[in-house]
Amino acid sequence: MTSDEVRKRFLAFFEKRGHTGVPSSSLVPENDTSVLFTTAGMQQFKPYYTGEKKAQNDFGSKNTMSIQKCIRTSDIDEVGDATHLTFFEMLGNFSFGGYGRKEAIIYAHDFITKELGLDISYVTFYRGNENVPRDDESRKMWQELGVADIREDGADVFWGPTGDSGPCGPTTEIYCKNADGKDVEIWNIVFNEYMCNGSREMLDKGQAKLIKLFVPGIDTGMGFERLVATIQKKKSVYDTDLFTPILKKIDDLAVFQQTQDFVQGRRVIADHIRASVFMIADGVISSNTDRGYVLRRLIRMAIRYTDALVIKEGGLAEVADAVIEHYGNSYPELHTHAEKIKKEINDEEKKFKKSIKEGLPLIGKEDPFILYTSYGIPFEMTKSILYIQKKPLPDLEDFKLKMKKHQEISRAGAEQKFKGGMGDTSEISVRYHTATHLLHQALRDVLGKEVQQRGSNITPERLRFDFSFPRKMTDEEKKKVEDIVNEKIREALPMQKVVLPKAEAEKTGALHFFGDKYGDHVNVYFIGKTLDTAYSKEFCGGPHVTNTKELGTFKIQKEEAVSAGVRRIKAVLV
Ligand code: SER
Repeated sequence: MTSDEVRKRFLAFFEKRGHTGVPSSSLVPENDTSVLFTTAGMQQFKPYYTGEKKAQNDFGSKNTMSIQKCIRTSDIDEVGDATHLTFFEMLGNFSFGGYGRKEAIIYAHDFITKELGLDISYVTFYRGNENVPRDDESRKMWQELGVADIREDGADVFWGPTGDSGPCGPTTEIYCKNADGKDVEIWNIVFNEYMCNGSREMLDKGQAKLIKLFVPGIDTGMGFERLVATIQKKKSVYDTDLFTPILKKIDDLAVFQQTQDFVQGRRVIADHIRASVFMIADGVISSNTDRGYVLRRLIRMAIRYTDALVIKEGGLAEVADAVIEHYGNSYPELHTHAEKIKKEINDEEKKFKKSIKEGLPLIGKEDPFILYTSYGIPFEMTKSILYIQKKPLPDLEDFKLKMKKHQEISRAGAEQKFKGGMGDTSEISVRYHTATHLLHQALRDVLGKEVQQRGSNITPERLRFDFSFPRKMTDEEKKKVEDIVNEKIREALPMQKVVLPKAEAEKTGALHFFGDKYGDHVNVYFIGKTLDTAYSKEFCGGPHVTNTKELGTFKIQKEEAVSAGVRRIKAVLV
């Protein structure tokens, strides 16, 4: 079965069962601004799970399906083996109050076994914890369907939330055997029954809470490449027809196919250029920060292999062309931006080659670690050049050790600056973080103590603050809140921190909404000259500005509902 056939069958199967097809959203998430890239099909549907928007109104059905473009960079260094990818597509069916566990499991079972003709090797279900009950309903459902191997599992089968907050819940997963006879996860079916007011990390540390969603939802995801490899009985995702014309192009271009690097190199180029093409089409451009940095790294890693494989300058743009041709039918935006995509890759190639020119003559003289950190020459490039020059090859272990030490030092530095794990840590974001504390207190002053933080998210452009409050704020109330925050900014109050034993910290009256499970000692950030007279006090990981005068002028842009009893403010500093 070809990959195109799989796409068609998936869409037809769920269309028959009342699902509206929704196009993939951009790789740059709109509803989930605290994450760099779209990593799951459900992200574009977040407001439908929370009840903020109604699927029936927008899609004419409570059930949708999509084939979503995704980027996950956590395994970026593993790319080149048989299974890892940075870009992938995800097939998913979703329901926002349309159906529940039973139907979701039957659909998945029937699609896998009847439509695709695969055997289910085993399935999992959630064993539960102190807050979430054991998922016996899923277990029973699989039993009824005649699946013999049903396994209980823990945290791995509780999914989400993505980003800084959102829907999440227990999952049941389907495993099938791949061409090597190994069990691989094919489908993840999430029962979105909860709203989490913090990130997954916070949830696992007991610093975030789960609130039952009013209407439970369904969110399923099937990694397309892996599914196709399983159906086509290929040992590697790169051996599927999803990669055939891309790899063929690389093989045509590569002069040097003798080394070990070749197997890995052609896969890295195929994956990284495929990812880069989709990212650029969605508006990402190379830079030294955030998304742009990921793109730059992908292109540069591909370039380093063009050297090992001896691919001429400009070759990567030809590989990009192969990607555009191959995927253009399913994703017309690739054709629309074809010129821009090729130019971006070519420009980056030129820039990179220029910047490493200085270091090239030093290969063989300087340590590969210095070549990398001072001249940007990747280890693999040093190695392949020494290989061609028939010189002794460098020691990878030694390089890795030095890199590890180097990273530990830089990480320690970064952590010191930015404890608390915020998504974005530029100076501008730090200002928004401090402004969030002022806003929080000002809201409590104006609206009363029932205001409690439900979520917070900061980007370099704005802050977003979710809080409990039963109704829309009036214009006067908004104005009052703005005035208070601006007054505190004008007063040029210092932002200070004390570390206190937890019990004492609580006595100060500092706000802390993720409750019970802080460590023995906590940071209390306070805005004011002394802790006693401080205007705002909060348990917080930082980072913050040192004085409110750094903030500028505070402006509320929007006040809106997130869900019943939860309001959201978006505000800027100008
Ligand atoms: N959101 C889940 C995942 O990414 C299911 O779609 O696996």
